[in-house]
Amino acid sequence: MTTLNFALIGCGGITLQNHLPGLALCPEVKVTALCDAQPAVLEQARAQTGVGIVSTRFEDIVQRDDVHAVIIATPNAFHPPIALAAIAAGKHVLCEKPLALSRADAQAMADAADAAGVRHMTAFTYRFVPAMRYLTHLVRRGDLGQPYHYRSCRLQDWGTRNLGWRQVRKLAGSGELGDMLSHRIDFAHHLVGPMKRLVANVRQWHPTRGDAPNDLDDWVGILSEFQSGATGMLESSKLASGRNESWRSLDYVEVNGSEASFEFTTGKWNELQMGQLGGPGMKPVTIPREFWTWPGSPRDPGAGDPLVTFRYDQAWEFVDAIRSGRPAVPSFHDGARAQAVMEAAVRSAETRQWIDL
Ligand SMILES: NC(=O)c1ccc[n+]([C@@H]2O[C@H](COP(=O)([O-])OP(=O)(O)OC[C@H]3O[C@@H](n4cnc5c(N)ncnc54)[C@H](O)[C@@H]3O)[C@@H](O)[C@H]2O)c1
Repeated sequence: MTTLNFALIGCGGITLQNHLPGLALCPEVKVTALCDAQPAVLEQARAQTGVGIVSTRFEDIVQRDDVHAVIIATPNAFHPPIALAAIAAGKHVLCEKPLALSRADAQAMADAADAAGVRHMTAFTYRFVPAMRYLTHLVRRGDLGQPYHYRSCRLQDWGTRNLGWRQVRKLAGSGELGDMLSHRIDFAHHLVGPMKRLVANVRQWHPTRGDAPNDLDDWVGILSEFQSGATGMLESSKLASGRNESWRSLDYVEVNGSEASFEFTTGKWNELQMGQLGGPGMKPVTIPREFWTWPGSPRDPGAGDPLVTFRYDQAWEFVDAIRSGRPAVPSFHDGARAQAVMEAAVRSAETRQWIDL
């Protein structure tokens, strides 16, 4: 096995929390280059990792012959130019969600990566929740029957604090929609197939956050129809006061089908609720151990906080796809499909109309 050299572009929160520890678990993988537009952040990352090659310019990093793959974890607006430059240089690319600010840009990334023959992956990290993996297995096995309804609800309490680039349209594209709901749009596609049409609303409650202007949504709701005929209800908010943040707050997914209903919350990573048609109601089902980690993952599911460490399997999936020369999941195409829904949701909210996808 030859060593795979990675460059990390954007050395902020998610790189430190997910990408570095995830890569560290993968055998024969080395982070050899770091890039961040802010010299102070770059220096801190260099000091923390001991990585020798650093630059504030992504152009310098993606063209290096000793870099085989890059992870892009910058504000959303920079994902397309960095990804396209990396793809043009023949690098495999794992890009954070949302892939882009528009459907067209996300699709261009997917098409360019396919044409170049490089591996591509969208960081829809919550696909790696063990309960989500087991639910996917049950749905694929037919336990749900015909899918009737998909429902997701992500409620957090972010108050009115300053969210930095996340509250600036030209950097983030959308607010809660791209930040949190994009993952749940991906779940919906993954579990019940592509959406066909939708009507949506977004709401901004706070035109300033901290001392800075906020020009993006704090809340989003989507009512959708899928190509299969199933219906969808998706809601996400940063303003569910008292609900706390991150994995301590509500992240709920439910599917109802002709044979059964299944439900999970990410906070209970190793448990599903299940009810059968005509049965007495929902009852807990423990997630079998083989679903606690991604296939082949070197991660010990007993090590660390399981609500954090499932995320590390994302790096493993990308590395394994590169080594095996197979498509990574979720791919840029999954990212582009979610982006199309996001774009339609914004248009629906603006025009107050149903939008066909
Ligand atoms: N998959 C997930 O669960 C998840 C979780 C959090 C964030 N994210 C995504 O990750 C991305 C980064 O989020 P974050 O929370 O780490 O943000 P962050 O602000 O903590 O870090 C982003 C970093 O990118 C740097 N940067 C900005 N422009 C750059 C450029 N042109 N070139 C190189 N570096 C640049 C910034 O200086 C900053 O250090 C976003 O797209 C976000 O949506 C995904």
